Amino acid sequence: MTLKSNIDERKLPQHVAIIMDGNGRWAKDRGKFRIFGHQNGVKAVREATEASAELGIKYLTLYAFSTENWNRPQLEVIALMELLVSTIRKETATLMKNNIRLMAIGNMQDLPAKCFKELTAAIEETKNNTRMTLVLALSYSSKWDITKAVKTIAQKVKDGLLEVESITHNTIDEHLSTKDIPSPELMIRTSGEHRISNFLLWELAYSEFYFTDKLWPDFNREDLYEAVLDYQQRERRFGKTSEQINNS
Ligand code: IPE
Ligand code: IPE
Ligand code: MG
Repeated sequence: MTLKSNIDERKLPQHVAIIMDGNGRWAKDRGKFRIFGHQNGVKAVREATEASAELGIKYLTLYAFSTENWNRPQLEVIALMELLVSTIRKETATLMKNNIRLMAIGNMQDLPAKCFKELTAAIEETKNNTRMTLVLALSYSSKWDITKAVKTIAQKVKDGLLEVESITHNTIDEHLSTKDIPSPELMIRTSGEHRISNFLLWELAYSEFYFTDKLWPDFNREDLYEAVLDYQQRERRFGKTSEQINNS
C-alpha cells in the first residue's frame, strides 16, 4: 500500500498551510551559499502544490517571505526577490494547465516593482481557476495583518460606520487579508523548528500542527501524504469532550 492510498478522501483538510523552512541549512550542508537552498526549494513548492491539488485539497498557503525576512543580508533578499520573479514567470503556465488559482497575502507594497508586477499579472491570469487556490504569504506577518485590520475597524467606528458593540470575531476575520480563505485545518513546518514565526496567528487558532525534521528542499509529495495521514488520525475536539465528539 502506498501512503497516498491510505488517505481518506472524505477527511481531507480543506486548507493546508506550510512554513517552508530550512533552505539555508540545506545549502550549508552542501558547502553552498544560502541562495542555492532557496533555488532548490522551488522543486519542493512544485511537489507540494501538485500533490495537494491531486489529493483534492482546496487551499494551500505557503509562507515564502516574512516581514522579518527583510532584515536578512541585502544580497539574500535581492536574490530571493529575483527567484520569486523568475519562478512566477516560469510556473504560471503550469498553474493554468493544472487549473490552480494564485493569490497572495502580505504587504505587497514593500515588494520590488518588478516582483509586484509579475505577481499581480499571475494572480490576474489565474483568477478564474477553480481546482485549488495557492496562497503565497509574501512580505507577510500576522502581526502586520492584525494591526492593519484593527486600524481599519477603528477608523470605521470613528466614521460612524460600525458600532463597537457589534464587533465580533467575525468582524476581525473579515478585515484580515485571509478574509476569503477558510482557516487551515493543518499547518506543517519543516526543518525541525517548533514555532509559528508570526504566521497566521489568528487563523491557526484551532489548526493541527505537524512538524518534520526534513529541510524544505527535501520535502516531497510523500512527506505531504504523511502529514495528511497524521492529521487524519487526530481527534479535533474544539473544546468539547471526546465522548461528545464520538456520539455526535
Ligand atoms: C526558509 O528557509 C526560506 C525563507 C525564510 C525565505 P531559511 O532561509 O529560513 O533556511 P534556514 O532556516 O536558515 O535553514
Ligand atoms: C519563517 O522562517 C518564514 C518563512 C518560512 C518564510 P524563518 O527562518 O524566517 O523563521 P525564524 O526566524 O527561524 O523563526
Ligand atoms: Mg529559517
